Amino acid sequence: MGEENKTFNIEDFDVAKALGKGKFGFVVALKVLFKNELQEYRGEGQLRREIEIQSHLRHPNILRLYQFFHDKKRVYLVLEYAAQGELYRHLQKVGRFSDRKASIYIYQMTTALLYLHQKHVIHRDIKPENLLLGAKGELKISDFGWSVHTPNANTRRTTLCGTLDYLPPEMVEGKNHDASVDLWCLGVLTYEFLVGQPPFEDTESKATHKRIVGVDLTFPEYISSEAKNLIKQLLQRNPEDRLPLNEVLLHPWITKYNK
Ligand code: ADE
Repeated sequence: MGEENKTFNIEDFDVAKALGKGKFGFVVALKVLFKNELQEYRGEGQLRREIEIQSHLRHPNILRLYQFFHDKKRVYLVLEYAAQGELYRHLQKVGRFSDRKASIYIYQMTTALLYLHQKHVIHRDIKPENLLLGAKGELKISDFGWSVHTPNANTRRTTLCGTLDYLPPEMVEGKNHDASVDLWCLGVLTYEFLVGQPPFEDTESKATHKRIVGVDLTFPEYISSEAKNLIKQLLQRNPEDRLPLNEVLLHPWITKYNK
């Protein structure tokens, strides 16, 4: 941004074009949240936390949050523009990614998670819907709505809404959890990139719940043994048994495609 302590309001943005070149001098994305809808599904506290966390992060694979402002009805987040848009749409279009493509994304994801964990931030909501792609096709983590800063982390039971697909056993069971929840999610993400569906998906949430806590994991025959090996090491029921991020970076399925 370059202009410290400047405040903005909606007039500074060419919103008619949705994504405009305004006072920032470069293209940004505006995320508009309606205050009356905010209370219903996430609450003000969670949005404050999201802004507080995301605005302090600087990593090539984490979407920048430059500024925010609000008026009577809305909260506006001024975000980095990710030119290739939503990753899940790319996945939908092609069905599943090649080993090479998936490995490159997982490498980028892992470096971003290492950075977050060094800052004591756990993301807790890694899934294709929360990932964007930059102009060069680089992955960008974009949603910090469920993230927590660990020293103050409220690691007890939190209300679970939406899909269970990416939740680790300890969160499904409402137990205490730590940064290793992101390792589990990384395993689920790797699987979904390669298969096109998350590993524990089922027709109803009760069945998904059962499959997660039982780590009921099966692989289509086209999955390479190296990919299988990495996924199995991440999808461990015991959080302490999951492969640490620095070792993910050294795994053959990662090093093979990320020279
Ligand atoms: N879609 C949702 N958020 C976006 C962003 N920041 N950039 C581009 N497309 C988006």
